[in-house]
Amino acid sequence: GRPADLAGRRVVISAGGTREAIDPVRFIGNRSSGLQGYALARTALARGAEVTLVAANVALPDPAGAEVIRVESALELRAAVLEAVEGADVVVMAAAVADFRPAARSGSKIKKTAADPDAIHLVKNPDILAELGERRREGLKPSPAVIAGFAAETDDVLANGRAKLARKGCDLLVVNQVGENLAFGTPDNAAVVLSADGGRTDIPRGPKEALADTVWDLVAARLG
Ligand code: C5P
Repeated sequence: GRPADLAGRRVVISAGGTREAIDPVRFIGNRSSGLQGYALARTALARGAEVTLVAANVALPDPAGAEVIRVESALELRAAVLEAVEGADVVVMAAAVADFRPAARSGSKIKKTAADPDAIHLVKNPDILAELGERRREGLKPSPAVIAGFAAETDDVLANGRAKLARKGCDLLVVNQVGENLAFGTPDNAAVVLSADGGRTDIPRGPKEALADTVWDLVAARLG
């Protein structure tokens, strides 16, 4: 059985991948399935947590007992997460958030023309994880005691992970090596969890539930 070490704790988890609309029928998206975020939600519930799951375009059944908020775009995900973290103890950003979105969304379907289409102009999305860290540093509102993120890297996993952890100002960063059929859309995952205090925990390849439990072990240790 699992420990009830998250009993009475409120956790917010983002999952899935955002879609950035081009027109009413088209979007820029990514390959995130939501499996890792949902595994985090199920395991947190099993350990006694109260869970709010902010789900971006996930085709999976709601975990029993979680409050599920469905969103589509990065801006919607940002609004839902910022509202949900009020009074929360932990936030884990497992969602793949688009770094860019089309500057304008066409109100009607873009028509096929004889000539090549116009370029799609992109603008930056806010970095929600970095914003959560900044808000906590500013101390204007009570913020989660533990802020965690995920990062997919293809090379220099540790160096890139360390730099990202510092840049985003989070407590834990779960760094995935992507490629070789790992991570996206598969039941298995492997990662290195880096912590702001210099710690490192290697999670060998295994079910996403096992990775989730190790993340909650590290979170629970920080909550004390
Ligand atoms: O910078 P990168 O996209 O690799 O960072 C990944 C982490 O940052 C994930 O935890 C993701 O949820 C979060 N993120 C975010 N807002 C963005 C981009 C990523 O919160 N615009």
